[in-house]
Amino acid sequence: MSIGIHDLDVATAHYVLDLDEMARALGVDPAKYEKGLGQDEFSVPAPDEDIVTMAAEAASRVLSRNDPSKIRSVLFATETGIDQSKAAGVFVHGLLGLPNTVRTVEFKQACYSGTAALQAAVNQVARYPEDQVLVIASDVARYAVDSGGEPTQGAGAVAMLITANPNLVVIEPGSGVYTSDVNDFWRPNDSSTPFVEGKLSLDAYMDANVGAWDDLAAQRGLAVTDIDRFMHHQPFTKMARKAHARLAEHTGVALGDDLIEDSMAYNRRIGNSYTASLYFGLAAQLHAEGDLAGKRLGLFSYGSGSVAEFFTAVVQDGYSDHIHPENVAASLDRRVPLTFEQYRELHAGYIGESDNVETPVVTKAPFRFTGIVDRVRQYEARG
Ligand code: HMG
Repeated sequence: MSIGIHDLDVATAHYVLDLDEMARALGVDPAKYEKGLGQDEFSVPAPDEDIVTMAAEAASRVLSRNDPSKIRSVLFATETGIDQSKAAGVFVHGLLGLPNTVRTVEFKQACYSGTAALQAAVNQVARYPEDQVLVIASDVARYAVDSGGEPTQGAGAVAMLITANPNLVVIEPGSGVYTSDVNDFWRPNDSSTPFVEGKLSLDAYMDANVGAWDDLAAQRGLAVTDIDRFMHHQPFTKMARKAHARLAEHTGVALGDDLIEDSMAYNRRIGNSYTASLYFGLAAQLHAEGDLAGKRLGLFSYGSGSVAEFFTAVVQDGYSDHIHPENVAASLDRRVPLTFEQYRELHAGYIGESDNVETPVVTKAPFRFTGIVDRVRQYEARG
């Protein structure tokens, strides 16, 4: 039985900051962001948006094309969780009106956990082939102002329906996995922004890339030449280029940048969406020109700390009848541009978990975070 991604859709935030605007304000050469990091802009949430509202929007797009009564699990991956106990997916379950006969749980391991959720979903369907599993990866990457990570912020969600005999891609059995205890990026419970050892994080990412690749090659006897396109996790798109070059050096095979180019189109504009980033890369690859049917994709998922996985997926015949690039275009193009000053005001106005607050009505999206009452987060679906 083949199992994989049957449907996929995305959402992002209300605002966008052009990195040229940030460069001007900070007196940085714009080429540093555009070429040095490979980023053009990043999404910024309005006060009435968060990981739940983006996740619910992405998932509602998927559910509008599928039968929600077949869903048996909602697996929500995030590293910017909104509660230490309740899974963000439970709010999404409520907003979407899913049946009670659904298992809902949250996965965490930095940017890697979207892939942990995806593999758990595949395993569930392997055991219960009638089950359908909704996997959602949703994050807001928010770094301290004036930190190295500030231009690599972003926000977005990807929802995927995992089923038997999928329309889009089959996830092949056998992954390469890699764990190494390293403090490259972490966020203590009392901090709304992460701590980052920038240079260490680049090295840890690349060590994990070749480490997971070696395990995949050993498990399956695969060579890099067996893979037609690569998608590497994209905290900023230049990172994927660095990893790809390192993999080429490591394997002694010339791997052209043409094998990763298509996967970077969305992340250049969204910024880092942590758990969702790799799957925006997959969406961009599937939405690119050219027929990928029958092609094998190599996906590298990295989460600081660090845990990584290299796995493969085969694109299905007829997949292009089931993709929705128009939704991504709509989400990206409807974003409202910010000045640098407006962006910094929003950054400073971040609503922490302990505030009692009513948010202003800003977003035009179908779901809103309306505020916090007696420490309980409140949401509305706009019908
Ligand atoms: P930085 O110190 O601002 O930048 O930090 P830099 O000085 O290293 O320059 C960046 C690049 O721009 C360099 O390119 C420069 O040469 C180039 P490289 O040499 O590395 O190829 N550059 C220019 N290019 C053209 N014209 C110019 C120019 N000036 C400089 N004028 C850093 C960069 C990535 C460290 C910072 O952005 C940061 O700390 N980011 C956050 C951490 C991060 O994203 N790490 C990536 C790996 S870890 C990961 O992916 C996990 C993560 O997603 C989270 C999770 O898993 O939970 C982050």
